[in-house]
Amino acid sequence: MNKALKYNISLVGAAMFCMVMLISSCTTDPNSPGVEYMPDMYRSPSYETYSANPVFKDSMTAQLPVAGTITRGEWPATASIVNALPYAYPNNLDGYIAAGEEVKSPIQKTETTSAEGKAIYEKMCMHCHGKEGQGDGQLIETGKFPPPPAYNGPALKELPEGKMFHTITYGKGLMGSHASQLTKEERWKVIHYIQELQKL
Ligand code: HEC
Repeated sequence: MNKALKYNISLVGAAMFCMVMLISSCTTDPNSPGVEYMPDMYRSPSYETYSANPVFKDSMTAQLPVAGTITRGEWPATASIVNALPYAYPNNLDGYIAAGEEVKSPIQKTETTSAEGKAIYEKMCMHCHGKEGQGDGQLIETGKFPPPPAYNGPALKELPEGKMFHTITYGKGLMGSHASQLTKEERWKVIHYIQELQKL
């Protein structure tokens, strides 16, 4: 083969290659990227968040949250959330005062929560605080322990729930901490019952 012919063939070959590239990069769909080299690098083969999905019965890729899931900030909260909530108020006077102003029950008070609180109160608090919260429990009647103030007396009638939670959590004066005996949810329920005793 002579040199000129070889040169011509490669020229024609190069021209054809360019034509093929040019034509294959044109499509009628304006959104099509044309021929792609290794398309998986551009488009993940996994299902997109809101795309249809044959794997699930309801054919949605983004599945609904499991039953019992609550939105952040949704109240009344479930017990698991209440118990997981951190209590960031320190065990000192500043913490006590701040809790009184800021800490509110994350559980809505209902007849049920008060009734459950009453059961806890009778087991864990009544021997000091007395049946109706007058500070005349069995332990006090022995005369060996000074009486706690009455819940409906001047000292505690207006006591905010945040201070109650703080005291039950850390203890106060002669009353010990009940944090290891009562979950946060149980502490709130017993507070709901004490609020009934404050009204007596
Ligand atoms: C050993 C006896 C005793 C037991 C048991 C006890 N308390 Fe007390 N409680 C006291 C005394 C004493 C005080 C007064 C503390 C003070 O003001 O120095 C008090 C105070 C309180 C106050 C007022 C707190 C404040 O901030 O002034 C609340 C609310 C309270 N108790 C709730 C409870 C609950 C709820 C239980 C059961 C889970 C309980 N107590 C168990 C003795 C007890």
